[in-house]
Amino acid sequence: MEGARRVPAGIDPNVPSVARMYDYYLGGKDNFAADREAAEKIIALGREVGGDAREIARENRGFLRRAVRLLARSGIGQFIDIGAGLPTQENVHQVAERHIADPRVVYVDNDPVVLNHARALLADNRTTIAVSGDLREPKAIFDDPAVRAHIDFTRPFAVLMVAVLHFVSDDEEAARIVDQVRERLVPGSHLVLTHAYQGTRDEAAVSCGKQVYSGTSAGGVATRDLSHLESYFAGLDLLKPGIVPVQAWRPEVPWDVPVDFTGFGILGAVGCVI
Ligand SMILES: C[S@@+](CC[C@H](N)C(=O)[O-])C[C@H]1O[C@@H](n2cnc3c(N)ncnc32)[C@H](O)[C@@H]1O
Repeated sequence: MEGARRVPAGIDPNVPSVARMYDYYLGGKDNFAADREAAEKIIALGREVGGDAREIARENRGFLRRAVRLLARSGIGQFIDIGAGLPTQENVHQVAERHIADPRVVYVDNDPVVLNHARALLADNRTTIAVSGDLREPKAIFDDPAVRAHIDFTRPFAVLMVAVLHFVSDDEEAARIVDQVRERLVPGSHLVLTHAYQGTRDEAAVSCGKQVYSGTSAGGVATRDLSHLESYFAGLDLLKPGIVPVQAWRPEVPWDVPVDFTGFGILGAVGCVI
């Protein structure tokens, strides 16, 4: 995606977008030079501490796929994916429809490029829609007429906030957002959430990474610890294995590496309203 002719209206290609950086980590082509430059800085910082931003993005995506598969297999047929990201392989609706008939999926994002691509992908899809919405305003998302027409809020549904809440820098605001989401969940509903954490080992590199993200469309990124994650799932029944690094959450191949909270990573969990 390059050249003035291909830049959608309302987009400044010189400001790195967290959606397009993530697309770059995942090997996608929907990104501009500024996105790639910022993403390469993060990749280099990761290398300094023996990590790989691309691998972390893939592991996060793997968690999302496994969580959706588990929920669809257990009969959940409605998904609201907030901060859905640019369409990639194995999007929520594609994973879900392999396991449950006619899943209803709403993709929500505040990035116009994400919405353009999602709407193009979904042009012929009756059961999946994409809407513009801001994670900071969960009430507006749930009350959006298109969302209300698509999701039956009297039946169990899943809300996904995967690798998005950390773009809300203020702790109180993040807690308020999750509270407002939890309030809407009816029994049998699920919250699927992943979030960046940092431990103490990679402090210097993470601090440089935060500098890079402060110049992006999101305006910054926050890491949070286990206790924050626990509070987001307050009152919910955590599915096994609880809150763990995403790669350790129900891995497809046995993952016998001890769970390590000392370095940078992404924590993930799924909670259910009982
Ligand atoms: C790192 S990507 C994650 C994509 C996908 N959830 C995943 O984990 O594979 C973060 C996404 O959240 C979106 N995003 C960031 N801040 C947001 C906000 N305040 N409201 C809605 N979407 C937001 C970005 O545009 C981007 O598409």
